[in-house]
Amino acid sequence: MRNEVIFFINGAEHRARGDAVFQTVSRYLRYDQRATGTKIVCEEGDCGACTVLVGRPEGGGLRYRPVNSCIQFLFQVDGTHVVTVEGLSKNGLTPLQDAMVRCHGAQCGYCTPGFIMAMAAMWEGARGSGLGAREVSAALTGNLCRCTGYEPIIMAALEVEGQPRIDEMFPPDPILRALPDGEGVRVGSFFKPATLEEAIEFKAAHPKCVIVQGATDFGVWCNKRGFVPEAVLSLDAIEGLDEVRIEDGELIAGGRTTLAAIEELVAGKMPELERILDRFGSPQIKNVGTLAGNIANASPIADTLPFLYVTGARLELTGRGGTRSVPIESFYRGYKTLDLRPDEIITRIRVPLPPRSDTLRLYKVSKRSHLDISSFTAAMLMRRSGDRIESIRIAYGGVAPVILRLPKTEQFLAGRPFALETFEQAAPIARDEITPISDVRGSRDFRLQLAGNVLRKFFHDAG
Ligand code: FES
Ligand code: FES
Repeated sequence: MRNEVIFFINGAEHRARGDAVFQTVSRYLRYDQRATGTKIVCEEGDCGACTVLVGRPEGGGLRYRPVNSCIQFLFQVDGTHVVTVEGLSKNGLTPLQDAMVRCHGAQCGYCTPGFIMAMAAMWEGARGSGLGAREVSAALTGNLCRCTGYEPIIMAALEVEGQPRIDEMFPPDPILRALPDGEGVRVGSFFKPATLEEAIEFKAAHPKCVIVQGATDFGVWCNKRGFVPEAVLSLDAIEGLDEVRIEDGELIAGGRTTLAAIEELVAGKMPELERILDRFGSPQIKNVGTLAGNIANASPIADTLPFLYVTGARLELTGRGGTRSVPIESFYRGYKTLDLRPDEIITRIRVPLPPRSDTLRLYKVSKRSHLDISSFTAAMLMRRSGDRIESIRIAYGGVAPVILRLPKTEQFLAGRPFALETFEQAAPIARDEITPISDVRGSRDFRLQLAGNVLRKFFHDAG
């Protein structure tokens, strides 16, 4: 068992022990390494100023993805190669940095290194194919700029030619040879076991431990609320938990499968899920955030949950006694209260995929269209028989302490004509089934209004 974390930064090996492993990557870069190109602004994963690339072994090489280093901890980059803006420009300005200068893509410059790193990631993903304004905008959704109005930045990205790949700057073979293999790591209260059995025993012995995969929420708790975990468990070294596939009509995702991996898999196959994942978060967030994390976090406004409710997803929970399968709907016993025993871990999520003839619509209402926390969410899955509604499943989020199915509304709609009048009549029933509260994201009345309006919208969308 290793007692230190080992990683590379810009081609050089680094090791961390003791409390240092709980330091964020951005702070380590700026304060320990004096690599001040990586900026810290929001420190909660919103602005992208701290973006770095993290290369993980994949397919015999290193695959680089952008992440927010302000909410990544050193224990998370064990076994990876981190590339910062300093590494990118070690031989002078690269073509994309040069294009940013020419197109006046930087004014105050505070956001610029983050944009450069997000653009570098975009070029890695593009693998030589042409990029349009749409692809550029999508790749930069996780980066905010308060000066330029974005156009010069997008112009710069479109002008780039011949941007070298990270592998050309940092040949992967020597790094791969030096990176640690899949052995377990134990540093203080941090544990990254190599097997599921060890993870279960650790969790049983430390019931208050936090399983940290993406740290997209954990990072905010630590940075903004001073949260100090009793113990941290990482599932990163456990083989198979990052699986994602479609098999026998089910989407199957492992306990550490990222949202980005799911997005890649469903691209072109499930347009509605793809659309909602696009609005879910930035590439930096989706590259580390996991579906299991979104489920375990148990937020009543978690964006994936209404979808999982209407499709009838099941969770596989593995503990000392083996694996049991629990329907997502019975997993939540109250606000942030789970049907999860102290020794259990979410090891797999199984989502039955609806037939193409069914109509699925997912809705997210938030103050900002993209990358914002929802005020209200909804999912509807309808089966029609001619001009009648044969059956419909409806789930709302942000209207109660947990996600709610709306059985009375579903019952009312089943068998009735698919007509605007039907959905108008269902609206007050839906409003009666929910108990929203007022908070910073919306008033109770606003949510009650949405509960009815979304039914009308569904009629128009599905018609
Ligand atoms: Fe804003 Fe990291 S500092 S996302
Ligand atoms: Fe000032 Fe982007 S150049 S925030």
